[in-house]
Amino acid sequence: MLHSNLSINNKGHLCLAGQDVCTLAKSYGTPVFLMDEERIRHNARTYIDAMREFMPEGSKPLLASKSCCFKKLYEIIKEEGMATDLVSPGELYTAKAAGFPLENAYFHGNNKTDSDIEYAIDSGVGYFIVDNREELDAIERIAEKKGITQKILLRLSPGIDPHTQKKISTGKVDSKFGTAIETGQALELCRYTLSLENVSLKGFHCHIGSQIFEYESFADAAEIMLRFIKELRDTLSFTTEVLNLGGGFGVRYTDADPVIDYRENIKGLAGVIDRLCCDLDIKKPAILMEPGRSIVADSGLTVYSVGSVKTITGYKSYVSIDGGMPDNPRYALYESDYTCLIANKADKKPDLVATIAGRCCESGDLIQEDVALVTPERGDYLAVLVTGAYNYSMASNYNRIPRPPVVMLKNGESYVAVKRETYEDLIRNDM
Ligand code: LLP
Repeated sequence: MLHSNLSINNKGHLCLAGQDVCTLAKSYGTPVFLMDEERIRHNARTYIDAMREFMPEGSKPLLASKSCCFKKLYEIIKEEGMATDLVSPGELYTAKAAGFPLENAYFHGNNKTDSDIEYAIDSGVGYFIVDNREELDAIERIAEKKGITQKILLRLSPGIDPHTQKKISTGKVDSKFGTAIETGQALELCRYTLSLENVSLKGFHCHIGSQIFEYESFADAAEIMLRFIKELRDTLSFTTEVLNLGGGFGVRYTDADPVIDYRENIKGLAGVIDRLCCDLDIKKPAILMEPGRSIVADSGLTVYSVGSVKTITGYKSYVSIDGGMPDNPRYALYESDYTCLIANKADKKPDLVATIAGRCCESGDLIQEDVALVTPERGDYLAVLVTGAYNYSMASNYNRIPRPPVVMLKNGESYVAVKRETYEDLIRNDM
């Protein structure tokens, strides 16, 4: 099937990590996010091992917390020895509550407030990834007040467009993130940073976008960043210790997406970085990467119950499910492709083309349009595959719909990593 942790058993039911998805849906209720713990660990190890093997000393991956964030996940990646990036004090709070070693955390965000900065410094966050001059001044002021020197990377925009979807491409010059190299502003910001006393500049960050299936775009970004690093050495005598190339390696959501070998791509990228450093005659910086979806996406799937099949004569068919944009807003936002199937009829041939509709009072609440399915009946289970990234983390309570639980599968057993929200949870903060 699409990924090696998916299979069909002798009852014709879809299985994840060898476990019957329908049995799990029956015992935990629907909708439910299922996640394969071993797959998360395997993906984390793939990055850790490849970066250690092929890249300069000190190179490592950071889990992009925005892709998925709950306490148990931090415990898992901590056990694997993976570091993390955090984009908000909420993600920081979660990592801290999970006992994650925050010296291994990199604090992102294009608009950190003074209180975010204080909170992160007080929590002992290892590095700030600084977006802009005002933020830099705030960190300098707060670090001075606290009598510390804060390690930082500066986020730069290399001016690369990796041709992914516009809303998920972030490395272009015209972007809300970072400071542009092309305009000369990055050089100015570095000069200024080096004049400050309470921040210690360790290196640079860039992120070019998501769903990138070949390392060449990363190599292009690396080249621009390394040329800039050489310029800094030559003009300011500054030695860069760390180059963070961001996240973005792609994931197969459907059969139309290519198969990607992360290890081979990391090896290829490492080769280019090596050559560039030699040609430019600069000291090799440690490389960081920030994979999100390629760590968690293929570990997960979502199971819903079908409520109705409505065929509008002469038009199309809608299959309605008991979830929708509150647990997966990605189709509504990006028209993201997904593979959908009826989990209790996974061995049957599709005989219907249908649009999968969520339960919100909103016509745009769709999970996928015009997909081939086995005609379902009320009570059947519909599985949406590869939902481990940006589904739970982007879930909302729109229409006051409680968020589904996250159930982890491990060694033939399952456990609840995040409980299903209750109606009581929904009114917890109402006065
Ligand atoms: N680092 C930075 C600075 C990022 O902005 C992102 C994603 C990542 C790492 C991780 O990228 P990944 O490896 O997961 O592709 N919510 C969206 C995409 C926007 C993500 C933006 N940043 C989605 O559902 O696809």
